Amino acid sequence: MSSQLQSSPSAQSIPSYLNRDDLGPWGNYLRQVDRVAPYLGSLSRWLETLKRPKRILVVDVPIELDNGTVAHFEGYRVQHNVSRGPGKGGVRYHQDVTLSEVMALSAWMSVKNAAVNVPYGGAKGGIRVDPRTLSRGELERVTRRYTSEIGLIIGPNTDIPAPDVNTNEQIMAWMMDTYSMNQGQTATGVVTGKPISLGGSLGRREATGRGVFVVGTEAARRVGLSIEGARIAVQGFGNVGGIAAHLFEEAGAKVIAVQDHTGSIFNPKGLDTAALLEHVAKQGGVGGFTGADPLNNDEFWTIETDILIPAALENQITEKNASKIKTKIIVEGANGPTTTAADDILHDKGILVIPDVVANAGGVTVSYFEWVQDFSSFFWTEDEINQRLERVMREAFNAVWQVSSENQVSMRTAAFIVACKRILMAREMRGLYP
Ligand SMILES: NC(=O)c1ccc[n+]([C@@H]2O[C@H](COP(=O)([O-])OP(=O)(O)OC[C@H]3O[C@@H](n4cnc5c(N)ncnc54)[C@H](O)[C@@H]3O)[C@@H](O)[C@H]2O)c1
Repeated sequence: MSSQLQSSPSAQSIPSYLNRDDLGPWGNYLRQVDRVAPYLGSLSRWLETLKRPKRILVVDVPIELDNGTVAHFEGYRVQHNVSRGPGKGGVRYHQDVTLSEVMALSAWMSVKNAAVNVPYGGAKGGIRVDPRTLSRGELERVTRRYTSEIGLIIGPNTDIPAPDVNTNEQIMAWMMDTYSMNQGQTATGVVTGKPISLGGSLGRREATGRGVFVVGTEAARRVGLSIEGARIAVQGFGNVGGIAAHLFEEAGAKVIAVQDHTGSIFNPKGLDTAALLEHVAKQGGVGGFTGADPLNNDEFWTIETDILIPAALENQITEKNASKIKTKIIVEGANGPTTTAADDILHDKGILVIPDVVANAGGVTVSYFEWVQDFSSFFWTEDEINQRLERVMREAFNAVWQVSSENQVSMRTAAFIVACKRILMAREMRGLYP
């Protein structure tokens, strides 16, 4: 491999269908992969594999709208790598989705699945549509047509979609039904994140927040921080942040600050997360919660805590607020909440960052359990699922921790080293076909 190929992002790796001057999220991914190259030893000869998705399908999704006109939407399914098993990753409905974004998300799924050692490759899908502008019938037609179009490459043994931004259990049920109708047989294992009544798994809804809690407690143990009385701040009080906060409180920690899209709240004695979950369910956000004082949104990032959990959106910890953060551990519940520049600032401040590819992998782990249960048509209890989830998350954390200590690199780089080695080892063992 030439040294030019190892520089970031290498010209030769850039496909003709991307804009060389603005690679978007795919460019970020390429830079992350380049950072790992020096740690891969002889496996680095396969590194170029990770810089090219294995397969990209771009589809036209035409539907008849309720007003009788025909609308066309652009859809994608990208299979980044399937060396370790079938592709696995969500489907995102958003008007701004791009091919570059879906490519990057599919690659991060390869890394996440390998980092927690579930036997999947990485894939991702998306449709450029704002689902809020569609009626329920239009949403169903978009979903069914898209599923038929990507039916060429998805399947229980080839590529298994799941929910992501703006997709949910109902959409997974429609995808499963469409694929099954086309196959002439019910195929529950073609998607995960389904309703329980259609082969969904107990514990899936809580899995990501629970995983955040498990790796957060593991990280605390490593730095000698007691969870009893630990001060926690959480950005995002939805599925991931709400569940994680509640589990930390149950374990004796104090959730002292919460921020969501309706504002920020603060209670130095620790707020009642069960009451806050109820408030959010009724009011749609944390704003107006009487068990805490309102806080300025910028101040949220300056509160002194022991553990900070970004569990809302990407790019929330930036060059602007990273230097003001006073915490010991950051557990990334969200995907991509920390910019690369902020990462370096946090590293210099000695803050331990548990990266998203490990911290929020609880969701895909229980998706894997759902798929296994569907294949065997035998369903586990919630306790069994939670115990297995905890084991997978702990093992993943420990493997990454060890590589981080051995190489004196951040947990993020260590997670990429662990994952890329697993993927490329599989590549090497399989050999190059033909
Ligand atoms: N749900 C999963 O299984 C899962 C798995 C892996 C990663 N994630 C990631 O976790 C993050 C949260 O996902 P979720 O499922 O909890 O979503 P959600 O919709 O349930 O909750 C999102 C939360 O973010 C808050 N939020 C939105 N805009 C905000 C803003 N501008 N400022 C502050 N807060 C804001 C919302 O108020 C809400 O509390 C996303 O990055 C998602 O990709 C989720």
